[in-house]
Amino acid sequence: MSTFEPVLSRNWNVADGHTLKVYESRGGYQAARKALAMDPDAVVNLVKDSELRGRGGAGFPCGLKWTFLPKDRKETLMCVNGDESEPATFNNRYLIEKDPHQFLEGILISCFATRASTAYVYLRYEYINGYRIMEKAIAEARAAGHIGKNIYGLGFDLDVWCHRGAGAYICGEETGLIESLEGKRGWPRIKPPFPAIEGAFRKPTVVNNVETLCCVPHIVERGASWFKSIGTPKSYGPKLYTISGHVNKQVCVELPLGITCRALIEEHGGGVWKGRKAKAAVPGGISMGLLSAEELDTPLDFESLRKPGCLGLGTAAVTVLDDQTRIIDYLYNTARFFAHESCGQCTPCREGCNWLNRTIRRIRDGGGRLEDLDIMLRQANNMGIMPGTTICGLADGAAWPIKNALAKFRGELEDFIRTNQRPARAVTPLQEA
Ligand code: NAI
Ligand code: SF4
Repeated sequence: MSTFEPVLSRNWNVADGHTLKVYESRGGYQAARKALAMDPDAVVNLVKDSELRGRGGAGFPCGLKWTFLPKDRKETLMCVNGDESEPATFNNRYLIEKDPHQFLEGILISCFATRASTAYVYLRYEYINGYRIMEKAIAEARAAGHIGKNIYGLGFDLDVWCHRGAGAYICGEETGLIESLEGKRGWPRIKPPFPAIEGAFRKPTVVNNVETLCCVPHIVERGASWFKSIGTPKSYGPKLYTISGHVNKQVCVELPLGITCRALIEEHGGGVWKGRKAKAAVPGGISMGLLSAEELDTPLDFESLRKPGCLGLGTAAVTVLDDQTRIIDYLYNTARFFAHESCGQCTPCREGCNWLNRTIRRIRDGGGRLEDLDIMLRQANNMGIMPGTTICGLADGAAWPIKNALAKFRGELEDFIRTNQRPARAVTPLQEA
C-alpha cells in the first residue's frame, strides 16, 4: 500500500514556512514558472483532466467551470472565496495563515489559465490574522516579481487585492460575495447569469475556493494522473478535513479523499472525549445534517455522501456530538444560526428559518407538542421543495438538518417533548375573568 504524502500542508510545520524565502527554498513558484510558459488553454485542460472538484462545498468541477467563461471576453476577474463561514470549517484559514505563498501561486496559475488580470481575495471578517499574513505575502510576491507586470518576463500581468468581509455568512455565497465586494449589501443574485458570464462589476468572473486553488500548483507540478491516483475511484485528490466538537483533539488534517468518518474521529481526532461514545457527527458543515452513530463508517468523499439521508461532502468539516448531547440543542443551534443569517430576500427562506427557529426554541423550552414535529417537517419542505423557489442554497441548507434529524432522531425528539413539559402557568382570578 502506498503511503500518502501530504502536499497542501507540507510547509505547515516548517519554521517560517509562511515566508517567501522558505517557500521558494522548498520549490515554491516553480509550478507557476512552468505554467506561465505553457498555453493558458493547456493549463485549463490539465486541471480539467485532473477532475479537481471545488473544495468550497458544492464540489463543482473546477476546470469545467473555467471553460464556461465566454470565448470572446475582453476582461476576466478572479474572486477567491475565503469567506469560510460554515460553522466548524477552518481548512482555508490554515492554508491562508500557514502557507500564503502556496495560495498565491495557485491564484497566479489559475488567473493565467483563465486570463484574469485582477484577483480579489475575499476574506472572512474574523480572519484578521489571515488578512495581515496575506497582505504581507502579497507585498513579498509583488517585490519578487511573482505578481505585477510582465511576470517572469512572459508577458502576463496580475494584480491581487485582499478584501475583508463584514461578518455575514451569506457573503460566502458567490453572488452575495460579489455584491459585497462591489460595496453593496451581500444579497445573492438570481442565477443565471452565473458569475462566469456576468460576475463582479458585471464582467466574466471566476469564483473559486482557497483550497481548490491551492491544489492547482501541485497538479501543474505533478500532473493530472498523480492527482487522480489519490483518493477513491471517483473522488480524487488530497483533502483537508477539520474535526471539532466532542473529540479529544480538534485538528485540521490532510488526507486522501475517502477516509471514513469513524477513522477520522478515532485516528485523527483522538476519539470521542471523556471516554464517551458518539451519538452522531455532522459530516461537512451544519447544512449537511447528521450521520448517526450507525453511519459513521461512511467514507467522506463526494460520492458516498450523495445518498438518501445525506446531502454531500460539504466543507468536510466534521463535528462530533457525544452520546450526552440532546438533539433538540443541536437543532436549536442550527435553526438559530440560519434564522440569523438568512438575508431575507426570499419569503420561504426568511419566514421558514424564523418559524423553525421559534418552534424549536419553544420545544426546547418545554412548550412542545407532538404535532410540532410534523409542522416543522412541513415548514422545512416548504423552504426548498421546488428547485428555484429561493435565490440561493441557504434555504435548502437550513431545511435539510431539520428534515434529516426528524428522519433519524424522531423517537428522541418525541420522548423529549413528552418528558419536558414546563408546568402550566398558574391562572389568576383576573385572567379567568
Ligand atoms: P452550486 O452547485 O450552485 O454552484 C457551484 C459552482 O458551480 C458555482 O461557482 C456556480 O457558479 C458554478 N456553476 C454551477 N452551474 C453552472 C452553470 N450552468 N454555468 C456556470 N457555472 C455554474 O453551489 P453553491 O451555492 O455555489 O455552493 C453551495 C455549497 O457551498 C454548499 O454545498 C455548502 O456546502 C457550501 N458552503 C460552504 C461554506 C464555506 O464556508 N466554505 C459556507 C456555506 C456554504
Ligand atoms: Fe437570502 Fe435565503 Fe433567499 Fe438566499 S435563500 S437569497 S439567504 S432569503
